[in-house]
Amino acid sequence: WSQTATKTDGVLEVGGVKVTDLVAEHGSPAYVLDEADFRSRARAFRDAFSGFDVFYAGKAFLCTTIARWVAEEGLSLDVCSGGELTVAERAGFPMERVGFHGNNKSVRELRRALELGVGRIIVDSFHEIERLAALAAELGRPARVMVRVTAGVEAHTHEYIATAHEDQKFGFSITAGDAREAVRRVLAADGLELLGLHSHIGSQIFDSSGFEVAARRVLALHARVSEELGVDMPEMDLGGGFGIAYTTQDDPSDPAQLATEMAKIVEHECRALGVAEPRLSIEPGRAIVGPAMCTVYEVGTVKDVELDGGARRRYVSVDGGMSDNIRTALYDADYSCTLASRRAEAVPVLSRVVGKHCEAGDIVVTDEFLPGDVAPGDLVAVPGTGAYCRSMASNYNHAPRPPVIGVRDGKSFTVLRRETDDDLLSTDVGANP
Ligand code: LLP
Repeated sequence: WSQTATKTDGVLEVGGVKVTDLVAEHGSPAYVLDEADFRSRARAFRDAFSGFDVFYAGKAFLCTTIARWVAEEGLSLDVCSGGELTVAERAGFPMERVGFHGNNKSVRELRRALELGVGRIIVDSFHEIERLAALAAELGRPARVMVRVTAGVEAHTHEYIATAHEDQKFGFSITAGDAREAVRRVLAADGLELLGLHSHIGSQIFDSSGFEVAARRVLALHARVSEELGVDMPEMDLGGGFGIAYTTQDDPSDPAQLATEMAKIVEHECRALGVAEPRLSIEPGRAIVGPAMCTVYEVGTVKDVELDGGARRRYVSVDGGMSDNIRTALYDADYSCTLASRRAEAVPVLSRVVGKHCEAGDIVVTDEFLPGDVAPGDLVAVPGTGAYCRSMASNYNHAPRPPVIGVRDGKSFTVLRRETDDDLLSTDVGANP
């Protein structure tokens, strides 16, 4: 839950706003964004990693409001598509504080990034180095680049979101020698200015040993390449991926502790390798925005089924689902939820909160004890939906995406409005030749 979430008489309040009032005003379902919580987590990262640059990873959730808060809190911004770059531009985000990621950025995206003057482009393939060098020459604008390397670390997270083992699409392999070759080609290209190496090992990681191993490998490469190629790389980026608590079983480390650990490793390794310490940067997304949002749904139907062995399972259907939170279906993610609109009276029953979409895998919360008298019209709130829920939301079954409602000091404000059927039909040009 975000830091301002409390319950009074069973009614959930976030940012001083009762979710019952919020739904009366803005409808259901809705994502609720706690401004104070977002800002305080952003600030905690910036303060803890004071010698680092902290890039907020916009892929977790980005809109112009968020981009402004990120800028105001003194963080930089990681974007990974032309669309995210446009949001940053629209928000007036300082472009020199933007880093641009992606394993297959288009020529158009790269051109815009150069024209806008983004601070760094993280190159991910030999083709991209070639493309970017050509563009930089054509536009007469130098590109500051980081080379993304594959640290070869098995991060303990879901296979789809682990990114540092060799057999996946991102980055230049260290072991195969591609990383060194990429550095060489960047150095050889007029118009490309090498800032340093970049590594990102995956997402929703709790075990800090993955970061440690990755940092050691990238630093060793940094030292070796600096010497062999006679280059001075002033920076190094260790990516994002810091896990958050989705259920009471998760135990995330706090930013201050992470910062201390990372700084210690880097200092120690650099001393041992005899190289100057590069300026470090990190890219947290989930750990900043994840806990800052919850999703409020209204219950529509309830049914009980009998399982083999006589146990029962209760299905509580809500007015959203996999279109606003695909993470349970896609990664088998664990969420929890609570009855948010009234005091619970009845004995809790093991329940499964499901959406309204046309498939059985449309599950929001796999197992949760909800009061046995949960009924249509009740509101249920799911915490920790700030990261990768709205940003991965779809219009499956022509569902309009829910709004993001900001809350602060007892007031609510629309950050993203609810989509309408007209929004969805706006691309349907109706050709029938
Ligand atoms: N930097 C890079 C290069 C990344 O690829 C990512 C995430 C981040 C930073 C931010 O990672 P974070 O701190 O948010 O964990 N959709 C998945 C997560 C995909 C992460 C993609 N890259 C999910 O819902 O769990």
